[in-house]
Amino acid sequence: MAEVIIVRDPTEAGSVASSIFAQQITTNPATVLGLATGSTPLTTYAALAAAVTEGTIDVSGVRGFALDEYLGVPPEHPESYRSVITREVVEPLGLNPDQVWTPRGTGPDITQAGAEYEALIAEAGGIDLQILGIGSNGHVGFNEPGSSLTSTTRIKALAEQTRKDNARFFSSPEEVPTHCITQGLGTILRARQLLLLAFGANKAQAVAAALEGPVSSAVPGSVIQQHPRATVIIDEAAAAGL
Ligand code: GLP
Repeated sequence: MAEVIIVRDPTEAGSVASSIFAQQITTNPATVLGLATGSTPLTTYAALAAAVTEGTIDVSGVRGFALDEYLGVPPEHPESYRSVITREVVEPLGLNPDQVWTPRGTGPDITQAGAEYEALIAEAGGIDLQILGIGSNGHVGFNEPGSSLTSTTRIKALAEQTRKDNARFFSSPEEVPTHCITQGLGTILRARQLLLLAFGANKAQAVAAALEGPVSSAVPGSVIQQHPRATVIIDEAAAAGL
């Protein structure tokens, strides 16, 4: 069962989460991080960046793997997850961009991109600490309801709800991608430590189903119950259904 920490607000969550990151990185300076996009991890990344600036942690040996990417969106597009990870994580923390990977959403033989990414993660020795948000429909990464619990990185169709939730990042609803490439639930479960964050009433149902419902592909976030070392940091609104 995951350890659940209820915090006042996203700022407090960011400071709790960043101290878990700091502990991991201090223990292993060559830590491999699993990085999530979305608004949820932003306070964690900001708190980490502040710790780096203050000199309390040294991230020079840290490597990272993003969870997911939109299919067909070139990396230089401002809303590609490559761009988001560069903006929100790589630059503020001063990570080496060549040591941070995102799944490839464009280019030749795209059906091979998932296997290529799994090989890169394996070559790096696996992910030590994976940060996760959760979609309002229970998705983690872009593993939408119905995703196999043992899945690995692959191309998936985005759920309508997810396309609606993410429409705010694009200039028109038609521009929102229909497909993505995402680490699988099996990939996520192989990370040595998981940290799931969620804030706001909009996430309460997904959080309750993920933490207290049956482990089921209908609620991809429920895989966290199967992980031996998982921490959940949520505010009171997101905890309301527990
Ligand atoms: C996005 C990402 C997920 C993220 C989730 C929640 O679509 N693919 O990794 O956790 O949806 O986003 P937010 O944190 O903005 O609520």
